[in-house]
Amino acid sequence: MTPDSGSLVSLDGIHKTFFTRHFFYRENDDARRRIYVKKEVHAAQDINIDIAPGKIFGLLGPNGAGKTTTVKMISGLVKPDKGAVWVEGINVEKSRKEILKRIGVVLEGTRTTIWPLTPMENLRYYGNLKNVRGSVLKKRAHELLDFIGLSEKKDVQVRHMSRGQKQKLAICIALIADPKVILLDEPTTGLDVQSSRAIKDKIIEMTREHGKAVLVTTHDMHVAQELCDTIGIIDQGKLVTCKPMNELIEVFSESVFEFRVDEAPLLDPLRAIPGVVQAEVENGNQSNTKLLVLHLTPKEEFRSEALYNVVTHLRDCGIQLHSINQRQQNLESVFLQLTTSSI
Ligand SMILES: Nc1ncnc2c1ncn2[C@@H]1O[C@H](COP(=O)(O)OP(=O)(O)OP(=O)(O)O)[C@@H](O)[C@H]1O
Ligand SMILES: [Mg+2]
Repeated sequence: MTPDSGSLVSLDGIHKTFFTRHFFYRENDDARRRIYVKKEVHAAQDINIDIAPGKIFGLLGPNGAGKTTTVKMISGLVKPDKGAVWVEGINVEKSRKEILKRIGVVLEGTRTTIWPLTPMENLRYYGNLKNVRGSVLKKRAHELLDFIGLSEKKDVQVRHMSRGQKQKLAICIALIADPKVILLDEPTTGLDVQSSRAIKDKIIEMTREHGKAVLVTTHDMHVAQELCDTIGIIDQGKLVTCKPMNELIEVFSESVFEFRVDEAPLLDPLRAIPGVVQAEVENGNQSNTKLLVLHLTPKEEFRSEALYNVVTHLRDCGIQLHSINQRQQNLESVFLQLTTSSI
């Protein structure tokens, strides 16, 4: 298979399973035996992702879902069991060294910075590894340290810097060779508000003005909602959804309804109505009313029937209905619905 011609990053049917050994001690009559159980962890199950130039792809998912593994597979640091990864049209498995020179990657919790060196020396070292030298390297290093707010620390040994400052330097290292493909695994975790803002602005500028392709993983839904063009949600190695941000939120907003009622109905009979996925009562801000929130089936053809049956049910129970509204969803609520339900 060849990659999608317009994409800078292409993952084509990627699978990755890790095998882990869980040890137990078991006493018996004559000896203390150590036994182990082998377990499979599916970190990627048929993952397909394409990132075009000028686009930001957000990979979201609960802890252990497979986000970092996916980033490592794109970088050539973990080999997929099946499928192929392409970066700038190059097969990653076949040209790992070349790929590492071409991409900029920040891996969550990984120590990329060299602690006995200063930030400036780190940037010089990594710049040289990636064939950036001389005045270009010097200018870029100063600009990066300046944008991220590390200029004051440029000649201080990294080991004397704070955790957030080291994270900022890791981001500068990822950008030193001005890569076309940038992979950021939880880039803003642990950073102060100003630095987080500066990084988000930089990501937007790099994609919109310079046509980079960016993949970002984050647990911060506000960061994802603000930055990303497309959202992929991964759960237990499976991509449960992969859609443009607006479409994703729209689809979910279409199926959540708020019924303002004069008293709270029993929820079980409502949940039994075909097409009703979830039912909750929230206290309305008007003290004499309650807000009944129903998640209906995303299947449009069954939704109007479900709505009609809900209204009939409320009327049969003698409950007065003041209004019905579609609730505008945000990324956090969509994420929770997709990762806690059995979809
Ligand atoms: N080298 C490895 N050996 C065995 N299992 C591994 C290895 N690397 C990752 N895993 C397992 O693969 C699964 C996915 O891990 P991964 O680090 O990709 O998750 P994640 O989505 O980045 O999670 P988090 O949000 O916590 O960073 C986890 O269950 C993890 O325990
Ligand atoms: Mg991770």
